[in-house]
Amino acid sequence: MSVKKILSAVALASALWSVPVVTAQAQGIVEANFTAEGAAERPANWRRWVFVGSPITPNGLNGGAAPFPEFHNVYVEPSAFRDYQATGEWPEGTQIAKELVLVRENGNAENGSTAEVSGVGYQQGEFAGLELAVKDSERFSSMPGGWAYFSFGHQAQPYNASAEAFPAEACNACHAASADTDFVFTQFYPVIRAAR
Ligand code: HEC
Repeated sequence: MSVKKILSAVALASALWSVPVVTAQAQGIVEANFTAEGAAERPANWRRWVFVGSPITPNGLNGGAAPFPEFHNVYVEPSAFRDYQATGEWPEGTQIAKELVLVRENGNAENGSTAEVSGVGYQQGEFAGLELAVKDSERFSSMPGGWAYFSFGHQAQPYNASAEAFPAEACNACHAASADTDFVFTQFYPVIRAAR
C-alpha cells in the first residue's frame, strides 16, 4: 500500500471513529443570544443578513385559508451562510430568520392579486411577524437535528423582544418531514441552492 493510500485510510478511519464536537464559537459563527431563562432574544439586524428567498402561497389561491398566506422573506445570518458555502452544511449556531409580509392591498381581485404597473400579481405590503430557526445541538439536544424554532409575534412591528422555543411537534416535525436539506426548505431558496 502506498503512503498516500495509508494516509487516506487513516484519515477515513479517524473521521469514522472520532466525530469531533465542533462548537459554533470554534468556527467563528455569530450565535443567537438567550435570556437567563433560555428564551431566544430577537436578532438585531436580520434584514442585513443574506436574503435567500421569499415564498408566497396566498389565500386567494388556497380557498381563502392558506396555512402561510403571507410572503415569507427568509434571511440567513452571514457567518453561517459563509460557512455553508464552504462546507455545504449548516454549522452549529446557524440562525435563519423568516419575516412575514402581507400581500399588498390595492383594490385586490377575488384571488387576492393586484394590478400594478408591472402587471397583475402579488406584491409585498406590510410587515406582519418574525420567526427564527437556530441550530444548536448542545443547547437543544432534545430537538431533532438540533434545530429549535421561535416566533417573535405574528403581528405588525414592534415584534416581541424574546421568544421561547416551540415543542418539536409544533414546528420541527414538519421541517423534518418536508424540508429538502437539514430541516431547511432549500427547495424554495435559490440563493442557498446556488451557494452549494
Ligand atoms: C406544516 C409545515 C410547517 C410547520 C408546522 C412549520 N413550518 Fe416553518 N416552514 C415551513 C415551510 C414550507 C417553510 C418554507 C417556506 C415558507 O415559509 O413559506 C418554512 C420555513 C421556516 C423558516 C425559515 C427557514 C427554513 O427552515 O426554511 C423558519 C424560521 C420557520 N419556518 C419557523 C417555523 C416556526 C417557528 C414554526 C412553529 C411555530 C414552524 N416553522 C412550523 C413549513 C412549516
